[in-house]
Amino acid sequence: MNKNLCKVSSQPIISCHDFGKQPLGNGFLNKEEFDKEYFFDMAIGFSKESLLLQLLEQPENSEMFHEEYAFFSSTSEGMKKHFKKFSDDIFNSKYFNNDDNFVVELGCNDGILIDNFAKKNIRHLGIEPSLNVADVARGKGINVISKFFEKKLASEIISKYGKANIFMAANVMCHIPSLNDVIEGIKLLLKPNGVIIFEDPYLGDVITKKSYDQFYDEHVFIFSALAIQKLFEKFNLELINLEPQLTHGGSMRYYLAHKGFYEKSENVDKIINQELNLGLNKEITFRKFSDDVKKSRNDLIKLLKSLKKEGKTIAGYAATSKSTTILNYCGIGPDLIDYITDTTPIKQNKFSPGMHIPIVDYEYFKNNPPDYAFLFAWNHSKEIMEKEKDFMHSGGKFLTHVPEVRIL
Ligand code: TMP
Repeated sequence: MNKNLCKVSSQPIISCHDFGKQPLGNGFLNKEEFDKEYFFDMAIGFSKESLLLQLLEQPENSEMFHEEYAFFSSTSEGMKKHFKKFSDDIFNSKYFNNDDNFVVELGCNDGILIDNFAKKNIRHLGIEPSLNVADVARGKGINVISKFFEKKLASEIISKYGKANIFMAANVMCHIPSLNDVIEGIKLLLKPNGVIIFEDPYLGDVITKKSYDQFYDEHVFIFSALAIQKLFEKFNLELINLEPQLTHGGSMRYYLAHKGFYEKSENVDKIINQELNLGLNKEITFRKFSDDVKKSRNDLIKLLKSLKKEGKTIAGYAATSKSTTILNYCGIGPDLIDYITDTTPIKQNKFSPGMHIPIVDYEYFKNNPPDYAFLFAWNHSKEIMEKEKDFMHSGGKFLTHVPEVRIL
């Protein structure tokens, strides 16, 4: 793959910001693995042709999604509720037939979304290449194939199960560099009245919140509606609706169908116009974003150093994949952050990727509350603020970097 060319249009890319050497966002590791840790050069660029903001280089798929993949979707109650509502939205939509439904989910993880279909005995298929999370989904009775989706797999699915009327994905499409082949496969798999529904972190939010931590190895693209419309148009697939979501710090849900089959919602033009006003089709917007990111880094380092100088203790709250970008880009290690607490067992008693801050369980945080907790899971802030009333009542404070570095 040529890092100077757009992954979708093969036209030159304008480089916008360099995050330096980065490890895998979910590459939590043991001490013995420190000297063979994987790093890559992480920089982002914009294609004027496809309008896609993208990583210039990305590690191989097999480095990121494997039998020890550390991200389990069902770790947050908020996300469980979100995906229940996502499936209810589909059940109640005009796209869901009363008779022969077949629902396919790309990247079903531990089954948090598709389980709502399986429980209703709706014909379904999850596609999940990471074996450990796929096994959790299978344990819930979900039908799962552990392979990467491509055009060839679409043909295999059609011959075994027939075509799908709902093809859905959540926080998956933005992981896929070979989108042309994948979209060809989706189009093939989709019934004439079928609908593609997917959601991903949204570029409009990343730019306005300066949430640069949405970039890590797995997120090869951060989409705008402008880019999605353009991308699917090439395949005669039409953007028919858009629904902004609060998840992952600001996401967008995209609805697409075979051209001309469904009427287009007025939301599409409304949001496309908002994006044009925000300049999501212009290089200058991403140059300004780069300045914002550099300022955010300087402000954060200054704040953490001054707190440390005052003798305060600082912990990280949640070992998110996003935190890997912040810690490595800003050069924040155990000298500034004593430990990171996380509820996911596979991350506990390991070290954070690259900067090697110890990761501990929630009990440890409860027993050793810091003066300040850096809210790495800022996208779950409502749920965490509810849960941490005691911590705050006893004088504990939260820090964040979005949209500005500050003490909450
Ligand atoms: P995410 O931001 O990519 O959804 O990752 C969430 C991570 O945050 C996951 O490792 C679980 C962790 N987490 C906690 O440790 N405590 C919490 O209260 C929440 C909501 C998440």
